Amino acid sequence: MVDYTRLYSKLAQSIKASEIRELLAIISKKKDVISLAGGIPDPNLFPREELAEIAKYVIESYGNIALQYGETKGIPEVRETICKFLEATKGIKCDPEHVVITTGSQSALDLVARTFIDQCDIVISENPTYLAAVGAFKNAGARFIGISLDDNGMKTEELEDKLRKLGEDERKKIKFIYTIPIAQNPAGVSMTIDRKKHLLEIASQYDLLIIEDDPYSFLVFEDGVDRATLKSMDREDRVVYLGTVSKILAPGLRVGWIVAPGDIARKIEMIKQYVDLHTSTLTQLVAAEAIKRGVVEKVVSRAVPTYKSKRDTMLKAIRDYFPDYTWYSKPIGGMFVFAYIYKTGFDAGKLLPKAIEEYKVAYVPGGSFHVDGTGKNSMRLSFSYPSHEQIEAGIARIGKLIKEA
Ligand SMILES: Cc1ncc(COP(=O)(O)O)c(C=O)c1O
Repeated sequence: MVDYTRLYSKLAQSIKASEIRELLAIISKKKDVISLAGGIPDPNLFPREELAEIAKYVIESYGNIALQYGETKGIPEVRETICKFLEATKGIKCDPEHVVITTGSQSALDLVARTFIDQCDIVISENPTYLAAVGAFKNAGARFIGISLDDNGMKTEELEDKLRKLGEDERKKIKFIYTIPIAQNPAGVSMTIDRKKHLLEIASQYDLLIIEDDPYSFLVFEDGVDRATLKSMDREDRVVYLGTVSKILAPGLRVGWIVAPGDIARKIEMIKQYVDLHTSTLTQLVAAEAIKRGVVEKVVSRAVPTYKSKRDTMLKAIRDYFPDYTWYSKPIGGMFVFAYIYKTGFDAGKLLPKAIEEYKVAYVPGGSFHVDGTGKNSMRLSFSYPSHEQIEAGIARIGKLIKEA
């Protein structure tokens, strides 16, 4: 066997296969294991018939565009559709020239990382936060400052305090604040309007950029929750906004968008050119046509009650089966509950193989959502994909595992 390791880049040499991902791959083949692990939509919500009809229409009517290479930043009509959609649904005013269509918002995170981060630069984020954003930023060399969460989202007072105490040299290394303000992954919590205002004030005071990742704001279940995006409140062009059709149409389309101040949008476009030339022209047009025909509203009107009742089933099961030394988030939307088990030595990662093999249940250990090496005693529990029966049985099994651990 030829040894190629000497050829690998520093990134390839340092990147580690996640044991968890490998375990999750195993679970998908084990039919008797209930998985509360993957953050994937309920496939019953996919608008199959509408997308089949739209795909046919797009290829027949726009084949020369849909099957051809396109502009790196996205098809102009698609960018216009996204701007109209964001203005109508989120109150975000944007110029199609400041929009870059991306291959899902995961590629947007990677593009943001490539655009801003050098070795040892600092990213500020919620702690815990979305693990694949942590991965994308770390691959680019980022260090993190984590800000804790409560049921009202990122604790902005803590952010202000940490910034105040940070030395001038370190402060200069901060590239942006990454936040998921609405129905956060992994905790499902949202920032109050006061905290959002506070965050924007802090960004203004310290001259910081904010990356707002917003895949879940259509999936808010409660009336009293403030749904304003930071981007719609942004008066100083400090917010780069990331969106996606993954949770409101289908993740297989791989269509997302970045709305950024003009200079940033142009830089991102230049970088994207060498990553993938452009996002699929076919799925850009399918997504845009679905948005124009109101398919998103249809999906969302079914998704909200579906996920809300699954969340209720999960929260009731946690109350019934988890020990009282558990703290768990009360998601107002999204797809996840995040739980901490306050029992000395409890390590959700170490217990996962046993959970899968003996208890026939899977979750995502919470450590990888933490940016500071903490959180071994935590886990993310997803309610979007499993049935009500699987949620209840899965939580009962995890409850037993915790108590017997
Ligand atoms: C917070 C967050 N950002 C980004 C993504 C990536 O989404 P996609 O690439 O499917 O648009 C996800 C997916 O679960 C997510 O939860």
